[in-house]
Amino acid sequence: MNLDIRNVVPDDFMEIAKLAENCGHMSTMPNAVYHLFTRHFKKTSFVVEDTATHKILGFLLGFISQDDPEESYIHLLCLDPDLRGKGMGKSLINLFEDTVSKEGCEKIKLVTKPHNKISINFYIKMGFQSYKSPETVESEGLNVYKDYDGPDQDKIIFIKSVKKS
Ligand SMILES: CC(C)(COP(=O)(O)OP(=O)(O)OC[C@H]1O[C@@H](n2cnc3c(N)ncnc32)[C@H](O)[C@@H]1OP(=O)(O)O)[C@@H](O)C(=O)NCCC(=O)NCCS
Repeated sequence: MNLDIRNVVPDDFMEIAKLAENCGHMSTMPNAVYHLFTRHFKKTSFVVEDTATHKILGFLLGFISQDDPEESYIHLLCLDPDLRGKGMGKSLINLFEDTVSKEGCEKIKLVTKPHNKISINFYIKMGFQSYKSPETVESEGLNVYKDYDGPDQDKIIFIKSVKKS
């Protein structure tokens, strides 16, 4: 299979929404959220596409903060279950990092659920560290932010420093 990683285009959003349903512990969003990314955050959002069928097999949706232009954020990252463990997640992270560092960013942030062990192990492997603050408690060696997204919505905030290029 020949795969290509490219920037999103607006019409990708329905296929991304369909793939998101196969993304395990990852939160799914209303279609409008995927549409927002494919329309307004093209520079920092990517899909993995099968070049023969044009089927979308993975995506990373991210942006650069308006409040702090030195900070970027990965909102969602997902690979088709058949494509996992083959280095594509790493390629998407590397491309995002490369892109935002050229835009002057110094860090990448993201949040994940404490029980999403696959994603936690993956992000640690990718060089992210869990963020410690007065609101976090330590659990299994990670800093967990209590009620981050509302009552009982604990999250781990991951941060990675990137070099401006
Ligand atoms: C998390 C996810 C994106 C990882 O993508 P992937 O393509 O399978 O990961 P890769 O093959 O690129 O792996 C990159 C590195 O992470 C490691 N890794 C990947 N999954 C891992 C796991 N479950 N446990 C430990 N290490 C893992 C790999 O060994 C590899 O290390 P290496 O560079 O030393 O060889 C993918 O599993 C996925 O789509 N999961 C479901 C959705 C999700 O949870 N998304 C994250 C929350 S937004």
